[in-house]
Amino acid sequence: MTEAHFETLAVHAAYEPDPIHGGVMPAISLSTTFAQPEPGKPKTFDYSRSGNPTRAALEACLASLEGGARGFAFASGCAAATTLLHTLGPGDHVVSGDDVYGGTYRLFERVMRPLGIRASFVDLSDPSALEAELRPETKLVWLETPTNPMLKLADIQALSGIARARGIPLVVDNTFASPVLQRPLELGANVVLHSTTKYLNGHSDVVGGALITSDVQLAERLAFLQNAIGAVPSPLDCYLVLRGIRTLAVRLERHVQSAGELARRLARHPRVARVHYPGLSQHPQHDLCLRQMRGGGGIISLELAGGLEHARRFLQALRLFALAESLGGVESLAEHPALMTHASLPPEARAKLGIGDTLVRLSVGLEHVDDLWQDLEQALAQSEAV
Ligand SMILES: Cc1ncc(COP(=O)(O)O)c(C=O)c1O
Repeated sequence: MTEAHFETLAVHAAYEPDPIHGGVMPAISLSTTFAQPEPGKPKTFDYSRSGNPTRAALEACLASLEGGARGFAFASGCAAATTLLHTLGPGDHVVSGDDVYGGTYRLFERVMRPLGIRASFVDLSDPSALEAELRPETKLVWLETPTNPMLKLADIQALSGIARARGIPLVVDNTFASPVLQRPLELGANVVLHSTTKYLNGHSDVVGGALITSDVQLAERLAFLQNAIGAVPSPLDCYLVLRGIRTLAVRLERHVQSAGELARRLARHPRVARVHYPGLSQHPQHDLCLRQMRGGGGIISLELAGGLEHARRFLQALRLFALAESLGGVESLAEHPALMTHASLPPEARAKLGIGDTLVRLSVGLEHVDDLWQDLEQALAQSEAV
């Protein structure tokens, strides 16, 4: 049989019906410890921080979806990032994209920098910016594509070629695209990171994270750090993420379809100054989107006409889109990056990135697209009356 398609993997990867009862989904294995037949010789698992059957099923599934050899699940996306950054030591340097999630920026600047690990932030939508920033002590390249919230793209193949030539691992935070739309390991990345809180779980009821790699040595180190640092998810959360993954492909299909339609309608609306969406032909990197991604994604950022008060009014007038942080769930969400998700960035950094007072980010959910449009239209109309 030829290798299964992504949709099939998402439903079946890493799980066979259990041999005793035939359960088609894994059991939620809550036991924290496992009886050993002989001292120091566990069957498979000994203690649930080190490994757990439900987590193992999720980890194998994550590896399979990203085309990697090993997957590691964590208690949050930030826990995954923290664990990965502990592969570095004092004096090491990271080149990071400049438009990364605010919490990732905070992790670099306020947690890792005091430990002697420095990061510089550059616009990786231009691969030559990476070349210019590399130093002898650079030990990791870190990028998000599409970025959050400006939805800029980075050319994974070009950047991983540059990093690989110097023997520097490259990590791609694939949270926004999900493996349905983009598979960074196939394009030369060494590690993929996810906030599984978002599309992979997809139902806004789990905070989780993941790392996936095919690099054997790095996998060994990550396995050690996952256990030693201990930021692991609960078996129940692992089960829920796995359940979410079973419908990932169909969910993404609808997210992309509706976001594309709304982006096109918003781009024509007189109350909208600018739309950022990689699937639009006017996006500056639309060609790269066509090459690197299987669709423009489910997130749209837009700049409203007017000022902060217009944006506030718009967000408060929305009825179907909940005013909330996060993204990638079945329900549509709207947020104001400058006041919410990216408030931890210094104002100068926000200004440099273009995260202004009228920027709004939408996570397009699975509601009917015409209902979503009606909601956006009425809120745009109300935003005018400030
Ligand atoms: C792109 C991206 N990476 C990482 C994270 C951090 O994930 P978590 O909130 O699960 O810790 C987020 C959270 O919003 C994110 O958007």
